[in-house]
Amino acid sequence: MANTEFKSHEDKTVTLYDEAYSAKYRAYDEEFMNAPTYQHYKNKLEGLTKSFTKPISALDVGCGSGRYFHLIKNAHKLTGIDVAAPMLEMAKHPVKESEVNIPEIKLIHGNVFDYDFGNEKFDFIYSVGVLGEHAPFDLGMVNHLYNLLNINGILFTTIVNLDIRKNTKRKLAEAAYPLMPGSLKRVFDQRWKSNYMTHKQLDALMKQSLFTNYKIDNHVSDDGVWKGGHYEVTGKKG
Ligand SMILES: C[S@@+](CC[C@H](N)C(=O)[O-])C[C@H]1O[C@@H](n2cnc3c(N)ncnc32)[C@H](O)[C@@H]1O
Repeated sequence: MANTEFKSHEDKTVTLYDEAYSAKYRAYDEEFMNAPTYQHYKNKLEGLTKSFTKPISALDVGCGSGRYFHLIKNAHKLTGIDVAAPMLEMAKHPVKESEVNIPEIKLIHGNVFDYDFGNEKFDFIYSVGVLGEHAPFDLGMVNHLYNLLNINGILFTTIVNLDIRKNTKRKLAEAAYPLMPGSLKRVFDQRWKSNYMTHKQLDALMKQSLFTNYKIDNHVSDDGVWKGGHYEVTGKKG
């Protein structure tokens, strides 16, 4: 992706996740623990991290307030990266801090698109509510995450499900799109510009990527604040 494009996503994200919004996000963390979606991610993240037979190094992409740190089991090190400083400030005291059992936690203020991890690699990379949402999940990013994994490492990431967001009007406009004049196509291209993905787009992307072993699940969220659905990619390296 061109530099300017990911920088514009960064600008929007940093503007959104200011101190006031970050404080609201943290306040909602407590309520979220009672939502079915929390239980869903608990099962996922605990299940995946417990599947390793040795202590792991984990990377949380867009870690926000550290909502999921306590669900990462079996880890000797956890790195959280986030582009919004106020969110990262919250992550210094993550959710259910007393249940976080990780000897080393490193928090990085940076953008996953251009942060240089040097030679460091991870056994488990996860990202919830970030890629295919605030930032694009494109071929460059999928392969970047693949390259950041150790052999036998696992990636788990959510991507907003675009299929269930399309209403009948949009579906009709999409059917008529091939017959539209260029000027009208450009209007719709602009209107439909989004990081969200359809299953077809996501599967095509994964097929093109370095991952040969992956699955895509669908999870409809009902957390009280955010209504919608996420596709979930679980990919294994090697
Ligand atoms: C919806 S919040 C999710 C936070 C956390 N993963 C969770 O589920 O609670 C999105 C987070 O992603 C961060 N973010 C968005 N784009 C990013 C990027 N390119 N690099 C690092 N962090 C990013 C935002 O600053 C924000 O904290």
